[in-house]
Formats: sequence, C-alpha cells, structure tokens
Amino acid sequence: MNPQLILLGAPGAGKGTQAARLVSEFDYSHISTGDLLRGEVAKGSELGLRVKAIMDAGDLVDDGIVLELLQANCDLANRAYIFDGFPRNIEQAKALDSQVLKGINAKAVYFEMDLEVLVERISNRRIAPKSGEIYNLVSRRPKTDGICDLSGEELLQRKDDNSDTVRNRMNIFRETNGPVIDYYEGQNALVRLDASEGQDKVFKKLSEVINS
Ligand code: AP5
Repeated sequence: MNPQLILLGAPGAGKGTQAARLVSEFDYSHISTGDLLRGEVAKGSELGLRVKAIMDAGDLVDDGIVLELLQANCDLANRAYIFDGFPRNIEQAKALDSQVLKGINAKAVYFEMDLEVLVERISNRRIAPKSGEIYNLVSRRPKTDGICDLSGEELLQRKDDNSDTVRNRMNIFRETNGPVIDYYEGQNALVRLDASEGQDKVFKKLSEVINS
C-alpha cells in the first residue's frame, strides 16, 4: 500500500488540485476536512449549522469536531489516504498520530509559497461543486467561461474566498503552521516542495515522493 500522505500548506497552495490528480493516477482516497465541513453546511446538518459562521469568517473549526469527522470518514486498515487540510495546528498533528494513524507509515509534504501571491491565486479560484473540479481564471481556465468542462454546471466562487476572509485565513496559517512543520521535520517525515511552480512540476515532485 502507498504511504499515507499528508499535504500541508497555506490556503490556495494547490493541495486540493494535486490531491485530485494523485487520486486519478495512484491508488489513493482523498480526505479533505474542508470538503467534509462544506458538505455538512450544504446538507444543513446540525454540525453544518454550527460551523457555517466559523468557516465563513475563515476561522478554524474546533479540533474535536474536525477530528471526529475525519475518523468517521477514513478506513486506514484498508486504504491509503491523502490528508488535505488536516492537521492545521500542533494539537491536530499529535491527534492524527495518536488517534488516527496509530503507527501507520505517513509522509508529510509542505507546499511552500509566498502568501501574498496566494491571495491573488485564491481570488481567481472558481469551483464546480458537483464535479469537484477546481479552476483558476489565470492558470486553469474552463473551455467556456463560467462553465465546468466535465459537468456543464455553473462555476462558483467559494464564500470564504473574499479578500477579508482570505487575509484572516492567511494570518491563522502564519500563527499555527510553524510548529506543525517542526513536528514533521523532527520525525524526518517532511518533504518541502515549491508550490509556486506549475501544476505539472508540482505533480511530478509529488509522484517522486510517493515512489521514493
Ligand atoms: P479548506 O477547504 O481546507 O481550505 P484551505 O486550507 O484554506 O485550502 P484551499 O482549499 O483554499 O486551498 P488548496 O491548497 O486546496 O488550493 P487549490 O488546489 O484549491 O478549509 C476551509 C475552511 O474549513 C477553513 O478556513 C476552516 O474554517 C475549515 N477547516 C478545514 N479544515 C480544518 C481543520 N483541520 N481544522 C479546523 N478547521 C478546518 O488551488 C487554489 C487555486 O490555485 C485554484 O484556483 C487552482 O486552480 C490554482 N492552482 C493550484 N495549483 C496551482 C499552481 N501550481 N499554479 C497556479 N495555480 C494553481
């Protein structure tokens, strides 16, 4: 089985984009805590109602809620996963080890990039909620403006992709990311990659990490 893969990096660094490519070329399942939480909001579940305002503001949802959601949606005995958006702070990193992975081999990859460039990248992101495709008005345009190439549905901008919320998400990332990176570096489990490279180059580097 492939190693469990943990994608770390700021909002907009390309984690979701690369996870989708890895799933289509390697034997991986993708687990994104952001997608799971957005799914709860879309369903209007009790959990979704509790977290909606927190997500709209770009703040972090309570660690316990996210951990529970993660545990309910993965089966580590039988599948290799790409963890996208989790862990986001040192408490989550330790909980992932002690309560989810429990000794299973994992590699962490840090998508490094200048946060100011990312603010612009995110403002150009458009998503197709049903197909899950991620577009960009600069780097990955749909064939027809505003329409998903795969599903034909209308492309949307994520509610938390407005400039105020993005600034808040970046500030939170600045405050919480350092100890997470130190944690995986301390375990000799961290690979850094330059996330400002084009999508194909980033994918090649990730493929090398999986095959190494
Ligand atoms: P989440 O959904 O995890 O959002 P995020 O971490 O902010 O990450 P993004 O989805 O914004 O970015 P990405 O790295 O996946 O970039 P993408 O591939 O789309 O979290 C949302 C919210 O949920 C949080 O704010 C929080 O409230 C809550 N939450 C989630 N997890 C939580 C947790 N563990 N604990 C507590 N709360 C949690 O790419 C971005 C754009 O760039 C796209 O347009 C894409 O086309 C383009 N692009 C991608 N790669 C490249 C490239 N190489 N070159 C040029 N353009 C590129």
